[in-house]
Amino acid sequence: MTPKDWQGKCSLVREHFLSEAAKAASAEALEAVKVACLGRKGELTELLKSLKDFSLEDKKTLGPLGNALKQELSALFDAREAALKASELEAGLMADASDVTLPPYPFQRGRLHPLTLATRRIAGILERLGFAWADGPHVETERYNFDALNIPQNHPARAMQDTFYLNGPCRDKRLLRTHTSSVQIRYMEGRKPPLRIISPGRVFRKDALDASHSPVFHQVEGLYVDKNVSMADLKSTLTSLMRGLFGPKARIRFRPSFFPFVEPGVEVDATCSFCSGGARCPVCKGTGWLEMGGAGMVHPNVLKAVDIDPEQWSGFAFGMGIERLAMLDYGVNDIRAFYENDVRVLRQF
Ligand code: PHE
Repeated sequence: MTPKDWQGKCSLVREHFLSEAAKAASAEALEAVKVACLGRKGELTELLKSLKDFSLEDKKTLGPLGNALKQELSALFDAREAALKASELEAGLMADASDVTLPPYPFQRGRLHPLTLATRRIAGILERLGFAWADGPHVETERYNFDALNIPQNHPARAMQDTFYLNGPCRDKRLLRTHTSSVQIRYMEGRKPPLRIISPGRVFRKDALDASHSPVFHQVEGLYVDKNVSMADLKSTLTSLMRGLFGPKARIRFRPSFFPFVEPGVEVDATCSFCSGGARCPVCKGTGWLEMGGAGMVHPNVLKAVDIDPEQWSGFAFGMGIERLAMLDYGVNDIRAFYENDVRVLRQF
């Protein structure tokens, strides 16, 4: 083969593959054309291999010609491949295109979160007893969360490991309230008895998250201040609450306890709603009783802190964990189910 023949073959190869590439109607067909040209046994590959039979002199002129052709055709194949893929993608999208302006039937109805449902049930029962709903902020000062509640500076509840303190430019230390009892102070401040409120809401403590603890949970606070309010009023109110929640047979009991803002203070238990007592109940561990929260008669120092005369007025207060009530009521055994917002869980309420 003379150099001239070789160059002639090059232009034939070029023309042939230019037209083949243009004819290829799919990325797949193009791939076959590419292999026939540039593959290991491809026509151009064979042609380039045949250069070895030429003289050094001829190689110097023919070699660059061959390489330029190889580059030209590779670039052509790449461009053609990109164009084919783009139009295939577009055809695919057109084939299963959906009309995004159509209404999304069937509509999925939203529903209330189980903690909202539990809060509303508790509030509904207490509102019928004359308690009004009061709100307070999540970010508090030490005065509302501790000082005015007769919790002294050195009380363990104030320690850093229990309370989330906030950094900031304020002169008063800011913190995330550790209980809803702060609302007692906010509500009594600047008001005169009789007062009767409940205050449901979020509270924060440095607890690790596990099946029964969460650093963020909910409480409902109750406060009643009037003339001659007694422990009997507290007991009847809480009995009505538990009967409203768990049925007419529910009973409560008080165990002596200590909270700085009440005197006397009690821990409130309700009869286990899962067993009739005595049995090997896993919920109450066979005791027949479940802890519901704390309560007591408002401490005279708390009344004094908000300018209410403890000689004239008395009151009771209680604080219950809403998650605890909701877990018992709905048979939920892991508190985390309330916060993960897994729709498979939420759909059940
Ligand atoms: N604030 C208390 C707590 O979080 C509960 C409580 C409220 C106790 C009111 C007595 C009176 O544990």
